[in-house]
Amino acid sequence: MIKYLGSKRRFLERIVDVARTELPEATSALDLFSGSARVGHAFKGAGLRVLANDHNEYARTLARCYVEADDDLVPAATRLIADLQRTPARAGWFTHTYCEQARFFHPKNGARVEAIRERIDRLDLAPLLRDVALVSLMEAADRVDSTVGVHMAYLKAWAPRAHNELELRVPKLLPRSPHGRSEAHGLDAEEAARTLAADVAYLDPPYNQHSYLRNYHVWETLVRWDQPATYGVAAKRVDCKTRASAFNLKRQASAALERVVDAVRARVLIVSFNDEGFLDRATIEDMLSRRGPVRVCAMEARRYVGARIGIYNPRGEKVGAVGKLKNHELLYVVRCAS
Ligand SMILES: C[S@@+](CC[C@H](N)C(=O)[O-])C[C@H]1O[C@@H](n2cnc3c(N)ncnc32)[C@H](O)[C@@H]1O
Repeated sequence: MIKYLGSKRRFLERIVDVARTELPEATSALDLFSGSARVGHAFKGAGLRVLANDHNEYARTLARCYVEADDDLVPAATRLIADLQRTPARAGWFTHTYCEQARFFHPKNGARVEAIRERIDRLDLAPLLRDVALVSLMEAADRVDSTVGVHMAYLKAWAPRAHNELELRVPKLLPRSPHGRSEAHGLDAEEAARTLAADVAYLDPPYNQHSYLRNYHVWETLVRWDQPATYGVAAKRVDCKTRASAFNLKRQASAALERVVDAVRARVLIVSFNDEGFLDRATIEDMLSRRGPVRVCAMEARRYVGARIGIYNPRGEKVGAVGKLKNHELLYVVRCAS
């Protein structure tokens, strides 16, 4: 799966375990901010029917692959990916923008990504098979990128992995839940909270001002394949300026979360929030306690790589001290009264 800020990779077992313990009879789970789709994938792996949601198209594509698609697609996906792997490189707009103008990938890999992406559209694939192919390509590109894990900047010199050969792999698809087909939605979280329902709802909203669309704009473009106008050194899509999330705005985040919490239709809510985010523990507990009794589990997490590496000036000299290396991920669990 792709490198993703705020991904709950290290806490998957804990989250699934909390859901299972709190509501052993649960058959469905709603993941309202699905991101890398890891949590939805883990819920599906535990046998639940999953409804995933995220407003960015690359994240919806990840959820269509990891949550909505079932493992009966594996034979077709294996043949398709072996075929795509043989596509000869062909440089064009993508290579120029993201490998020459900006330097997210080595041009030899950028030209392969570009040719494979063009072929995916020419093949007239069934929709979910197409999503599996797109995710396989996104993950292959992620393994040879030249970044520290976000697309706001690229490394001054090529990362060693950027010289590796691009290799497509078959994503790990899971069997369908005995409780029915899982789904991936692309709604704003508030609308998803109003229109989707499940036994357990997992809420993992952004914690701070950093927009996921900006951090992963190359994936959005790879999936949409819309050749957007770009701006800045990182060649960000111009719609990064207009497609904002209320959760990234300090003045709006609290009200936005409150609306989602009030609207969400589930018997148990599990909410992840970081102890360095916009909202403090008292505010969140107060908001959640309107739905029922709240308990909190704290889990220690390593901070974003930038915090661990330290601060450098444009000449590559260290100018700041390394800050705190760990923080806490808080898991709020609410048994809803109604
Ligand atoms: C902290 S990440 C979720 C990480 C995810 N749990 C994982 O393990 O990968 C928050 C996600 O919320 C999405 N998001 C932000 N604002 C949103 C909104 N208003 N509606 C729906 N999704 C939103 C972002 O695209 C991002 O993927």
